[in-house]
Amino acid sequence: MERKMSSLIKQEELERQIAFIQQIKELNAGKLKKYKLATYGCQMNENDSERLAGFLTEMGYVETRESKEADLIIFNTCCVRENAELKVFGHLGALKRYKQSNSDLIIAVCGCMMQQEHIVERIKKTYRHVDVVFGTHNLHKFPELLFGAIDSGHRVIEVLDEEGIIAEGLPIHRLNDIKAWVTVMYGCNNFCSYCIVPYVRGRERSRRLEDIISEVNELGNQGFKEITLLGQNVNSYRGGDDENHDFAEILYKLEDVNGIERIRFMTSHPKDLSDRLIEAIRDCSKVCEHLHLPIQSGSSDVLHKMNRKYNKEKYLKLIEKIKSSVPGISLTTDIIVGFPGETEEDFLHTLDVIEKVRFDTAYTFIYSKRTGTPAAKSADQVPEDIKKLRFERLLNLQNSISKEINEELLGKNVEVLVEGLSKNSQEAYTGRTRTNKIVNFKGKRNSDPIGKLVKVQINKIQTWSLEGEIV
Ligand code: 5AD
Ligand code: SF4
Repeated sequence: MERKMSSLIKQEELERQIAFIQQIKELNAGKLKKYKLATYGCQMNENDSERLAGFLTEMGYVETRESKEADLIIFNTCCVRENAELKVFGHLGALKRYKQSNSDLIIAVCGCMMQQEHIVERIKKTYRHVDVVFGTHNLHKFPELLFGAIDSGHRVIEVLDEEGIIAEGLPIHRLNDIKAWVTVMYGCNNFCSYCIVPYVRGRERSRRLEDIISEVNELGNQGFKEITLLGQNVNSYRGGDDENHDFAEILYKLEDVNGIERIRFMTSHPKDLSDRLIEAIRDCSKVCEHLHLPIQSGSSDVLHKMNRKYNKEKYLKLIEKIKSSVPGISLTTDIIVGFPGETEEDFLHTLDVIEKVRFDTAYTFIYSKRTGTPAAKSADQVPEDIKKLRFERLLNLQNSISKEINEELLGKNVEVLVEGLSKNSQEAYTGRTRTNKIVNFKGKRNSDPIGKLVKVQINKIQTWSLEGEIV
């Protein structure tokens, strides 16, 4: 009964928003209206931005990269680290002069940063030229909020504290026509002590399995070749009225989708990575041999303080299991250096894990204090200079390992999904292996491999990418 009600609300809500889209479309009729959309942070934010772009396209806006020619500028923000926030404030400040030269310009800010009260207060007080503010829980109401600002000429601020409905059926304008993101779940229940995400993205909510499968079917029909299933912790996906569908089931079900050649997913939490999921990676031919499994620290003491619910030994055992079940799997991770209280000994455990696991790539971060998280209150913050030195030591070690792993591919043939022309050379193409490594290669004359799977022989190695020739 409850589910029926909520899907009813969904339909009504969607229709309301479609009516606002229509009204803005009528206002824009006959004019060339342009939007600029800047996205910060993770793929979930990118996927949200594709929804915003979908709304804007329906409203008759076209995209521009130039702020000075835009009628509407939107920042979809991230607050995982302080740097991302500082960038947004810097850009927002710089926009004041555009507003002075074009009083019709609408400036909107949304996303994770806006879910924090102190940020919204700062925008209200200091950035008075911002017209629309909304958060992560009401992104589906963007048409209504934008119309409100255009129609009234006043600023519109709406941020909800609680997660609402999962809005299905929103329009979407995808950034890429070969690879697509598909969000399977929203929010996070884990409360790692350094992380702001649970406070700004709310509790875990899973989409219905049918909705996910129908989105992927549609992508296959539209000619997409690869999908990445997204969630803060895909392993806690629970779909269905009795929460009886798990994430592995999604992978098995998607094997049958026509057109989709490759399936990826992120992110997985080591505490929840099930044997069933490892089996699914092994058994499903479309699921790529790549796993992103953030470790965050190699020290069991630090992991405990981080509230990660596993220790160094458990993580290493899990890696052994994965490597023996899926030979050749590529492993990537996230690591934070300088978590409060991290000693030299703790840090050496992190280096030790890096040497033992031999990750293909590690995304490394300097700990950033996030207001409202438990770790931010800790008295034993690590001094900046020590954090930086540890960060460099970590990076040097990881880079040498990444290069050594890549060197093993010299002379070998790999399957590449070709994504487009290489940025560095108009004569070369770029794509990725199933293990998610970037490959740049020269194509054959008179053949256009973009969007296709090709075999490439690797003949040169870089730390971050491979070069080769099509065979
Ligand atoms: N400081 C530094 N890195 C962080 N991350 C999350 N919160 C913080 C923080 N406060 C990193 C984690 C996470 C990745 C997305 O960002 O490594 O996995
Ligand atoms: Fe943040 Fe931890 Fe949730 Fe990842 S699992 S989003 S690091 S709280």
